[in-house]
Parts: sequence; structure tokens; C-alpha cells
Amino acid sequence: MMRFVNSYKEKMQKYNVEHKLKYYIDTMGCQMNENDSLKYAGILESMGFVKGNEDNSNIYLFNTCCVRENAENTLFGRLGMLKKRKMNNEEVYIAIVGCMTQQEHILEKIKKSYRFVDIVLGTSCMSIFPEKLYNAVVNHQRKLEYIDVSNTLEEEVPIKYEDKYKASVSIIYGCNNFCTYCIVPYVRGRERSRKPEDIIADIKRLAQDGYKEIMLLGQNVNSYGNDFSDELKGYNFPKLLQDVEKIDGIEIIRFMSPHPKDFKDDLIEVIKNSTKVARQIHLPLQSGNTEILKKMNRKYTKEQFIEVATKLKQIPNISLSTDIIVGFPNETEDEFLDTLDVVNKVKFDQIYMFIYSPREGTVAAKMEDKITYEEKVDRLERLKELYEKTLPSLNEKMLGNTYKVLVEGKSKTNDQLYTGRSSQNKVVIFEADDSFVGKVVDVKIDSEHLWYLKGTIVK
Ligand code: 5AD
Ligand code: SF4
Repeated sequence: MMRFVNSYKEKMQKYNVEHKLKYYIDTMGCQMNENDSLKYAGILESMGFVKGNEDNSNIYLFNTCCVRENAENTLFGRLGMLKKRKMNNEEVYIAIVGCMTQQEHILEKIKKSYRFVDIVLGTSCMSIFPEKLYNAVVNHQRKLEYIDVSNTLEEEVPIKYEDKYKASVSIIYGCNNFCTYCIVPYVRGRERSRKPEDIIADIKRLAQDGYKEIMLLGQNVNSYGNDFSDELKGYNFPKLLQDVEKIDGIEIIRFMSPHPKDFKDDLIEVIKNSTKVARQIHLPLQSGNTEILKKMNRKYTKEQFIEVATKLKQIPNISLSTDIIVGFPNETEDEFLDTLDVVNKVKFDQIYMFIYSPREGTVAAKMEDKITYEEKVDRLERLKELYEKTLPSLNEKMLGNTYKVLVEGKSKTNDQLYTGRSSQNKVVIFEADDSFVGKVVDVKIDSEHLWYLKGTIVK
């Protein structure tokens, strides 16, 4: 573990008093990346940079993702635009960080064709960012060397939350699962769990600052603690949840993402007995077919997934969300029908659906795939259709019941109404006033609409 120390802070602040440089962060990808971007914003602001926009900034930081879509073209397009500003001698610096730069072919491309980029860093590289930035801005030093420290764990990085009431806190970095379609283990390194005392201290501080809702983040939160030895051995995710539960002021606890293979009874018990853990669990299915799951290296069967989902559904008011990939290499029609079958049986409240896309370097990328793209799109459509059919009946069940809702602010479409998310992560709209913002209230559901619910505050 490494404590983050910024020895360039004062020097950079001094420079910025005069130059007032602005920064802009472009974040692609998942909640982990969003959390990392809040840290980059924290570092930049501690060094005296101020937030600018897409057009008027001096420091452009691209926090990249390579998990699914081919975001490469988007990135390189944006770099092209900035090159023009650099050529016009405007004071523009470019940093590329995150998952994409951990891929050899991207790194080579940047080195070869985008030499005007100032800083290239991988994941978990915050400790060296201040030095690189200072050298680029003050010393006009542009060494495109790339340092891979993706297996480090950095503590005490300043973080600038944008939200005032809910915050995400990373608990574990990296992934050891090597699902065959997934690039994450290659770009985010091996699992590293943060010490419980560091996590608890962060959350206590957030609670003191008025935060009510916490999202615990990790590629696989169930692996939390697997890498502990000595006195921490045996401390795991259910125990962490129980310790977070004890923190006064925190009223809603969420986590993302668990792995179905590790969703054991002790965790289900902790959730069941908790008054704070949100009644919303994200349980990534990926495929409903045992054979495909085996090829994906997911380590559970169709039946085992249904068993975990069924146990979770016995918790009153629980809602489940999931991720599904359609069109894994050579997925047959029958295998796809198994996915539909699980969707039909489990009835998820939300499904994030993806068409399989090969990621260079993964095992699945080398598999033969005879399924046409049209077939994959068709499967996605059929999955969507089934999901939408199962959705209204779920919302109906919520009618007349009362749920905890964190009031987030005015509704975007009607400023008489306020909006928030129930513990199940459903959007709820209701009458309120500004004094309710940031509070957790009880809302009784009066009517259901496809994408939101309408209700009345009862407490
Ligand atoms: N193709 C399509 N979807 C993918 N995901 C991860 N890798 C791929 C890929 N190669 C999806 C999975 C995962 C989510 C974050 O992204 O469903 O749970
Ligand atoms: Fe990727 Fe699987 Fe790890 Fe999730 S658990 S990050 S899908 S390898």
C-alpha cells in the first residue's frame, strides 16, 4: 500500500495563482472510472487548477475505458481537435490515463501517431500524476514514457465529489476472475483490497460532511479480503458491510458489483438483517446457459444463478438488476433461449444488455464465431422485448407500499416535483420543497409509469 503524497502541490498552486489554468476531465466507462476521475479532479484542484469546460480548458485529461465499445476512435478524434489548438500555440496539455492505455496496441499508436500528447499513464497511477503534470506545464517536459503500476494500491488520494449526499468509495481494485470475454483483469491488475480501517475512516468523514448514501465499489466486491493475511485474515465483504452499517449518518448502503459465484448465504443474511443495505442488488448474469457460462469462465450454472436470485428475492421489497451479453462466440439459438428463460423466471428490474465484442488479448477473442452481427442484434431486440414485458408487473407490486427515498432535487421535467431513487434504485417523483433535499424520506407509491413511480411523502 502506498500513501499518496503530492510534493508538487505548493509549487503548482503558486504557478496557478498567476496562470489560472483550467482543467477538463473526459470520463469514459464504468463507476470505477468515474470514481477515479473524482480523484483526478481532487488532485488537480488541490494544485490550484480550476474546473473549465470542453472548449476553454488548458489541461485535458482523458480517463479511458476499453471494456466494451470501441471508444478508441472517439478518443483519437478528440485528440485531433486538441492538436489544432496546440498548433495554434494555445496553452493546452493532454493527459491520457485509465484502462485503454494499459493495452499495448493503444500505447504504440499514441507513441507513434499522437506525439503531441503530454502524459500517458495507466490505471492506479495517481501518485506519479502530479510530477508528470508539473513537468509538462512548468518545465515543458514531454517524455512519453509510460509507467505501469497497475498493481499498486494508493491511499489518501484527495477526492472531489460532485454530489452532496451520495458518494462512491472503492473497497477493492483489480480482478482475478478472468472471465474469458473481459479485458478488466489485464488492465486493472490483480485484486487488492483496501484495509477496512481506511474504508471506514473515509465513510465516517463522508457521514460527518452530510453524506447519506454510500456506494461500495469493486470489480468483484465479494472477493474483498481474499488477499488479506495475518490479523486481517478472514475479514470479508459481509463483515465490512456490517461495519459500514454501524456508521451513524449513513442511511443507504449500495455495492457494485458482486459475482454470483461468491454470493453466499452469510452475505444474504447480512443484507436481510440490515436496515441500511439498499433493497437493490446488481447480480450480473451474463448468460443463462450453463455451457456458455462455462466458456465464459463464470464458474456457476444456470441453476446455481437461479438459486441465488431466488434466495435474494425472498428478501421483502428487493429488486434485482443484471448485465447480459448476447452473441458470445458461437452462442446457439437454444443457448440464447436459456438466457431468455432465466430473465423470464427471475424478472429483473433492470437489465444492462450488451452485444458481445471481442477484446484483444482475451481468451474469447480467439474463439471461432459463426454468429452474424445481424443475429446478435436480433437477440438483443428479443431480450429487450421480453424485459419490457416483465417490467410493468414488477412496478405494480410497489403500488401502495412505502419506501425510503433520498431526495436528490427538483425533477428535470416538472419543477413543482422532486425526484429521488428508492432503495430499489427506482426513480420516484413526488411533491416536496427545497428543505427536503438531501434527506431520506418515506414515500408511498401512488402510481406506476414505465420508467418511474409517482408517490407522496408520508414521513
Ligand atoms: N463484450 C460485451 N460486453 C462485455 N462486458 C464486459 N466485457 C464485454 C465484452 N467483451 C459487459 C459485461 C460486464 C459489463 C460491465 O460489461 O456484461 O458485466
Ligand atoms: Fe471482468 Fe469477470 Fe472480473 Fe467482472 S468478474 S471484471 S466480468 S473478469
